[in-house]
Amino acid sequence: MAEPSFNLKELISKSIAAKEFAYCPYSKFRVGAALLTRDGSVFTGCNVENACYNLGICAERNAISKAVSEGYKDFKAIAIASDTDEYISPCGGCRQFMREFDLKWEVYMTKLSGSYKKMTLEELLPESFGPQSLIN
Ligand code: THU
Repeated sequence: MAEPSFNLKELISKSIAAKEFAYCPYSKFRVGAALLTRDGSVFTGCNVENACYNLGICAERNAISKAVSEGYKDFKAIAIASDTDEYISPCGGCRQFMREFDLKWEVYMTKLSGSYKKMTLEELLPESFGPQSLIN
């Protein structure tokens, strides 16, 4: 597989570091994300749970919201880290949230051992509903 044009190792390291801040007293399932913008900025996020369970937010959505709220909407890649030795796969809600900002960017799902699997959003969420679906 061709090497990406950015420092993937660094992005993955940042997702692992972000995981340290996970607030997950209920699931005890830590997740970290590092989101790379097209101009090279990185926004990190972790999952933040709540005693009212359904209010918890995933690491990916947290990172995206941080970026959007600071004026960044063009994304190149996101790395996701957890403590499991399976590739951490973004939930359906996060796929839809990511898809809002284009289908052509890359999702790097990592395992605890450090290996990763790369997929585009288009692959993760085929036949999706997006902003263009509303324009008729
Ligand atoms: N979680 C994420 O933050 N990202 C994922 O990709 C999968 C799940 C969080 C949500 C919840 O806090 C915990 O992991 C268990 O589902």
